[in-house]
Amino acid sequence: MSKKLITTMLIGLLVLSLGLFGCGSKTTEKKVLNVGSDTAFAPFEYQDEKTKEYVGFDMDLIKAIGDEMGYEVKVQGMPFDGLIPGLEAGTIDLVISAMTITDERALKVNFSKPYYQSGLTIVVRSDNTTITSFDDLKGKTIAVQIGTTGAMEAKKVEGATIREFNTAPDAFLELKAGGVDAVINDKPVNDYYITQAGGKDAKQVGEPLTAESYGIASAKKNTELAEKVDQALAKLRENGKYDEIYTKWFGAQK
Ligand code: ARG
Repeated sequence: MSKKLITTMLIGLLVLSLGLFGCGSKTTEKKVLNVGSDTAFAPFEYQDEKTKEYVGFDMDLIKAIGDEMGYEVKVQGMPFDGLIPGLEAGTIDLVISAMTITDERALKVNFSKPYYQSGLTIVVRSDNTTITSFDDLKGKTIAVQIGTTGAMEAKKVEGATIREFNTAPDAFLELKAGGVDAVINDKPVNDYYITQAGGKDAKQVGEPLTAESYGIASAKKNTELAEKVDQALAKLRENGKYDEIYTKWFGAQK
């Protein structure tokens, strides 16, 4: 055999084996994205009572994003105020948790392009006739979830007593029990609570207090991941998958 032929064969073998290895790693060990979320915020993230699985708009969206990126998504339930520290410490790769993009948070983490338009509203008990606007909250007792934009907004109310709860459902429970006069929280979550999650004795009052956009957060230094998330999100908006998930959870109106 000529040297040339042997060399060609060797190169051929090398290329072949590289190809095989390449395929092998793709199919056997799917890369994992560890995603943190405070999973008590229906309809964005909550635990299905029967299957115990995490479900909701955010959960469907992040799974679709993971699929698009070729990653398996593993969701870790965490307290809302532990999510950004978790990214900073590297215990999670991404956060999807109906998290509003704010300047303050954007100093610590990267946010994806906005994926949902939201805003804060006031919830009171149905029989309440004295609170119909933000101004009426003066001097009242307000329940919020700790570390949220609702908590920040409540702190702007003159003379109000703010009670911070670990989860939004805890804040609603306290409203129901009569321990507070109002809850300030995200409108889509308030809507869901009142119509589908037992908040029959509650109502929303006034105009939305804020206009907010939710973003998917990643660690500041992980810019490559942030870019991939944005690319995947853009793809899902293009191919109709985003609309499909949106309609599943919120109906047709946008
Ligand atoms: N959008 C609000 C914020 O970013 C509340 C989010 C709370 N999310 C949750 N999964 N509990 O501050």
